[in-house]
Amino acid sequence: MSFTWSAKDHKSYTNPPAATGLKRARNDTGNKVTVVLGAQWGDEGKGKVVDLLATEADMVCRCQGGNNAGHTVVVDGKEYDFHLLPSGIINSKSISLIGNGVVIHLPGLFEEGDKNEKKGLKGWDKRLIVSDRAHLVFDFHQVVDGLQETQRQAQEGKNIGTTKKGIGPTYSSKASRTGLRVCDLLGDFKDFSSRFKNLVQQYQSMYPSLTVDVEDQLKKLKEYGERLRPMVRDGVYYMYEALHGAPKKILVEGANAALLDIDFGTYPFVTSSNCTVGGACTGLGIPPLNIGDVFGVSKAYTTRVGIGAFPTEQLNAVGELLQTRGHEVGVTTGRKRRCGWLDLVILRYAHMINGFTAIALTKLDILDVLDEIKVGVAYKLNGKRIPHFPANMEVLHKAEVEYETFPGWKTDTSAARKWNDLPAKAQNYIRFIENHIGVPIKWVGVGKSRECMIQMF
Ligand code: GDP
Ligand code: IMO
Ligand code: MG
Repeated sequence: MSFTWSAKDHKSYTNPPAATGLKRARNDTGNKVTVVLGAQWGDEGKGKVVDLLATEADMVCRCQGGNNAGHTVVVDGKEYDFHLLPSGIINSKSISLIGNGVVIHLPGLFEEGDKNEKKGLKGWDKRLIVSDRAHLVFDFHQVVDGLQETQRQAQEGKNIGTTKKGIGPTYSSKASRTGLRVCDLLGDFKDFSSRFKNLVQQYQSMYPSLTVDVEDQLKKLKEYGERLRPMVRDGVYYMYEALHGAPKKILVEGANAALLDIDFGTYPFVTSSNCTVGGACTGLGIPPLNIGDVFGVSKAYTTRVGIGAFPTEQLNAVGELLQTRGHEVGVTTGRKRRCGWLDLVILRYAHMINGFTAIALTKLDILDVLDEIKVGVAYKLNGKRIPHFPANMEVLHKAEVEYETFPGWKTDTSAARKWNDLPAKAQNYIRFIENHIGVPIKWVGVGKSRECMIQMF
């Protein structure tokens, strides 16, 4: 397996500066990070791809989102699910970093660590680093998430279908500059307590039914803070040293996905962070020049959890087959995932934003039994193809999908380990996707576990 680390132009930052700033910037870029991002509506198999790459990584980082993510990794027949912890935590030789762009629910973090420890994940807390700039998700943010969903349902007749993990309310607190961060919790606790009380009051004035046992919350937060303290670092400086110290293999694990991105997704049916490539820079303090490979992860079909437009959704026997064969049930909420054909319009759109250097196509094996397979290749409005992905959801709902139809290969691919093991019809399907998006497919997934990944180059 090779992902290019491009440490070739690495120089220590202790070197004397070159004559011009411009030249120095070009010569002293430091290590390049590899980014793994969801290219659809989430649950594409990012955890599995990260796990594969993490076997040789020195550092695996989360840059955005919170425990709304659910990443499954299967190693030696054991299934782990990660929500806040980077999936690379499985690799005992690598450091895991939770960056400033992530929102952290401390009870959730420790519960997740302890649960995985019982499954055999030893020493996770010794190799976890947490940025002091990361914002905290409080229990009341999660309650408010639920109250907002009820309000949306009452006002608009529909909600977003959030994970109720407090993600939206916490990023709202962050944007309105009333949020509290890890550094605040570990600083002057008196000051933290008074800001916490103010924040509670603000939410109570918006949601009068919200009750919070402030003293009990503060007591628990103090305890969690002490447990967290040994893991906390200045995230920016930590990353700077990692980029400019000895050559390092650094991996960024995206959470959620392009079509759930707060700016580029199917707004308002999105999450509250940037799940596209910019989130790797802002969520970890990584300069754009240090971004190396950007791997997009896509299923060989499409799924979506929660509400919102889904042009290639199949509300029929095909959708049901994909749901059952693919075990399409959300890792975080246990909800059934909606299923449909692969949509190349959204993949091209995700590529416009992320500039993928390669794609991992997962769950090809789920299509093994189909007689024919369709792929959405274009959207039409009033009978005319449109070149862009519509911003407005009403327009998107009206878009008609143009499909290409492929014959199914009707062969079990789960034992395939190399390109030549795949039936010609499956190869044809993969090549079509690759050509249509204009990005090489580097991996093809044919099963849950680590070894079920065909590497193409
Ligand atoms: P993530 O959120 O992107 O990390 O993905 P999830 O873990 O939420 O969902 C992906 C699901 O598909 C998990 O249950 C994986 O074990 C499973 N999976 C990943 N790749 C493959 C594959 O190639 N074939 C099959 N059958 N399952 C896969
Ligand atoms: P991973 O990392 C699938 C969806 C929720 C909801 C919307 C907003 O496992 O791919 P939020 O709780 O974030 O405010 O919910 O976004 N959603 C995801 N769907 N996979 C995810 O993450 C998701 N993270 C958020 O279902 O529709
Ligand atoms: Mg998931």
